Amino acid sequence: MKKRNLSALREGLREAIEKAGMDVPSGGIHIEKSKTPGFGHFAVNIAMSLAGREKGDPRAIAEKIKAHLDPVLFEKVEIAGPGFINLWVEQKFYSTECADLAADLEKYLSGVFEIQKKKPIMLLDTSHPNIAKPMGVHHLLSTIIGDAVKKIYKRFGYQVVNDNYLGDWGTQFGKLIYAIRQWGDMKLIGKNPIPELLNLYVKFHNEAEKDPGLEDFGRAEFKKLEKGDSENRKLWEFIVAKSMVEFQKIYDRLHVEFDMINGESFYENKMPAILEYGRKKGIFIDGEQGAWIVPMENPDEPPAIVRKSDGSTLYATRDLARIKYWEDNWHPELMVNVVDVAQELYFKQLFEVTDKLGLTKAKNVHVKFGRMQFEDGKMSTRKGNIILLEEVLDESEDRAMKLAEEKGIELSADERKELARIMGVGAIKYNVLSQNRTTNITFNWDKMLTFEGNSAPYLMYTAARAHSVIRKAETDAKEAAKYTLELKEPAETQLAIELLLYADSIRRAAQEFKPNLIANYLYELAQEFNVFYNNLPILQADSEELKKSRLLLTVCVLKIMEDGLGLLGIEVPEKM
Ligand code: ARG
Repeated sequence: MKKRNLSALREGLREAIEKAGMDVPSGGIHIEKSKTPGFGHFAVNIAMSLAGREKGDPRAIAEKIKAHLDPVLFEKVEIAGPGFINLWVEQKFYSTECADLAADLEKYLSGVFEIQKKKPIMLLDTSHPNIAKPMGVHHLLSTIIGDAVKKIYKRFGYQVVNDNYLGDWGTQFGKLIYAIRQWGDMKLIGKNPIPELLNLYVKFHNEAEKDPGLEDFGRAEFKKLEKGDSENRKLWEFIVAKSMVEFQKIYDRLHVEFDMINGESFYENKMPAILEYGRKKGIFIDGEQGAWIVPMENPDEPPAIVRKSDGSTLYATRDLARIKYWEDNWHPELMVNVVDVAQELYFKQLFEVTDKLGLTKAKNVHVKFGRMQFEDGKMSTRKGNIILLEEVLDESEDRAMKLAEEKGIELSADERKELARIMGVGAIKYNVLSQNRTTNITFNWDKMLTFEGNSAPYLMYTAARAHSVIRKAETDAKEAAKYTLELKEPAETQLAIELLLYADSIRRAAQEFKPNLIANYLYELAQEFNVFYNNLPILQADSEELKKSRLLLTVCVLKIMEDGLGLLGIEVPEKM
């Protein structure tokens, strides 16, 4: 298969290294964009990594490699500092890459990633709110980050199965059933399900503090539910259905879809098998008062509990049954849980038990994320972590509408409303996805909804600019794919270099499960494009050839903006 993009440059380097009589280190060849224009398009530090093994001077090694580099592809090569190889790449290379990208971006990327017919499979656990409770902020983050991980992995060549592992099982449902019978009003619940159910749940806890005997009643109701008692079953189904209607409203607004919805209850009948299996293997051993436990490798850690002393199962038992079910049905290469950092120890232990049981060959990954921090105090939140998401989305759309008005964007009333929707939802998603998920995620309206800086409206506006140039030129991507690049001005070359880096941002975002690497890339691309756009005439370029070259660059910018924001689950308005 023909190497594309940076892989083609790596391949050229590899050949030169081998011709110079050396082996490429197993870590591979890293190519980076030069920090300073004038020092080449790309910089490579391979001579330094080779120097250790070859016991030579890195500059001398760099010279040897240089002597064997293809002088056509690498039209200029310089050795700098302790042994960096600075590369200037021929114009024709950029031109072919850009033309192919413009012609069919997906096909182009599948060539870059060398996607095979038989795709590796990833099972993905995202969103997973708890039935009968409002969706928490952490569930919203999991939904947004998980959706991006899914889209990024699909583009990277995986078959992805995204599951909404609902919290729809456990003793809390016995308590809720008891509370509904005791104090509930079915009409009120029908009308306003989640707040009513939450109130009943809170009431149960308050009453149980005064009268601990209630806990037993709750447990008894859950036992009945587990045994298949038809009244309890009906009530539980009603609760699940009502909650799902509420969750679905949010998923609709976010345009998030799942390939399956197997909540915790789905694993009810699959737990006895896993318990028996772990018992037989001697891995589930007796703990205190007859509970079944798995001691951890690290003696300082508490053991994992897989069965309570009264014989009932737990959250961890269901997760183990889920992992086995995923393995048996898909044999995936990757199993990924997008869950907040609060469950870090839990997942570490779950994976340790999974390994001990030998449940799967898949790599299990906990993609964790930090807390949402609200910078501008006034947010539509209730009780800290509970967020009235619909209100936040409404507010975001209102603010987006004001922003569009201030900017004096000329649109019809309908177009303006649609723009406010796209910007409002996009700003919330982009705010989450452009930050490093491993630290806390800050929420600040002013930074999210502005046309300056690293924000969704800035990127959308940049894309709309590119769109408008293409519209005025009366051309399109298919046509532009026939054009040839002519890189004369530094701003053009910088933009061409930047365009090559999109694929790498996807690769790294996938490998590290970090959508912010794509967001950051898009922000850099937008800045490069705006320098180009503000300084060089496109439609009024000096020659027809130059105009076409600049249009091809513009088409590529737009394609990548749309695709990249798409991977983050963000729509791009055509006009703004
Ligand atoms: N519903 C759970 C909660 O809100 C999260 C589920 C995470 N996924 C898992 N496989 N345990 O805490």
